Amino acid sequence: MMNDNFSFNPVTITGIGRYIPETVITNEDIAKLVDTNDEWITSRTGIKQRRVVSGNQTATSMASKAAIDALEFAGVKADEIDLIIVATSLPDSLYPSTACEVQAEIGAVNAAAFNIVAACTGLVYGLNIARNFIMTGTYKKVLLLGVDVHSRFLDWNERSTCILFGDGAGALILEQSSDGRNDILSVDMHANGEKAGELSIPLNGKNCPLVEPNETKQQYVNMNGKEIYKFAVSVVPRSIKDALIGAGLSIEGLDYLIPHQANMRIISSIMDRLGLKEDQVIANLDKYGNTSTASICVALMEEILNGKIKQDSIMAMCGFGAGLTWGTAIVRWRAKDKRKK
Ligand SMILES: CC(C)(COP(=O)(O)OP(=O)(O)OC[C@H]1O[C@@H](n2cnc3c(N)ncnc32)[C@H](O)[C@@H]1OP(=O)(O)O)[C@@H](O)C(=O)NCCC(=O)NCCS
Repeated sequence: MMNDNFSFNPVTITGIGRYIPETVITNEDIAKLVDTNDEWITSRTGIKQRRVVSGNQTATSMASKAAIDALEFAGVKADEIDLIIVATSLPDSLYPSTACEVQAEIGAVNAAAFNIVAACTGLVYGLNIARNFIMTGTYKKVLLLGVDVHSRFLDWNERSTCILFGDGAGALILEQSSDGRNDILSVDMHANGEKAGELSIPLNGKNCPLVEPNETKQQYVNMNGKEIYKFAVSVVPRSIKDALIGAGLSIEGLDYLIPHQANMRIISSIMDRLGLKEDQVIANLDKYGNTSTASICVALMEEILNGKIKQDSIMAMCGFGAGLTWGTAIVRWRAKDKRKK
């Protein structure tokens, strides 16, 4: 018999974690590689330095550290996790998935695991997937990770791209809420594949022996910076407004904007278009550069640990990037750090 009495489970975020590698590359370091300088990079992007992997660090090792951080924050054991979703465009292998590698690394023996690719919008897409699994009752506890190792896919002779990115990993634990309150208030997601060529890392050349190697198109970030800039400032404010409408809120109901940390000029433009105040907008890309799918967690966690983001704060987390993809999640923050006495 059909069950018509279908109701959704409430969802909340209970944990956050991050991992940023130790090796720092400053603007001055990059100026030794290409014709650029700190003033140009800072004024065009807001970035002063970025962190990159070294030694045997990988996407999986960074994601696993972020995962453990988030599990400890939430007071959840790895074997309680039902599903691991890893948002990444730059995994260590095409398969197995980073999610399966993390599952083994952290001992999440009861979890299903898969990767998704939505570039720098990956965390927002992943949040929506995770919450839907919990809302429908399929799973109770989901570990969502965002990790990217851009330093391995940059042409360090190309000054318009190598200045932008840093490596890192971020993690969220989503759970069925125990008190009936739903904290993922809405999610807005979009894609426009017709503009895919504006930002891409092509697979070709030596990795595809059946086609002629194309030395001019190596597997590096290819980007039309101006188009990506125009795209971000035109679509993201609309997405934030639509997500707020979906949550039944107006811009006055928003406490904080946690944007993807791509470029300070893009972030300022979004802030101006929405009429937000500077202290409502979370940005730390000066220290870490654009850490892609990790950037929202990397920025959010800093402000949670220093006490700026408090219980019941309403936040818009927005992402944009290759695909092209973009989207916004409206989230009420209620997680308490279980490590604190
Ligand atoms: C990349 C970006 C900073 C370039 O800034 P811009 O003002 O658009 O600069 P342009 O590409 O028009 O280049 C202007 C000049 O600066 C030069 N230039 C580019 N990078 C430079 C650098 N690092 N240092 C010095 N000069 C640089 C260009 O060669 C060009 O010189 P020319 O006029 O002699 O040809 C900017 O387009 C941007 O941030 N776009 C968004 C990128 C992004 O966020 N991508 C990730 C999204 S997830």
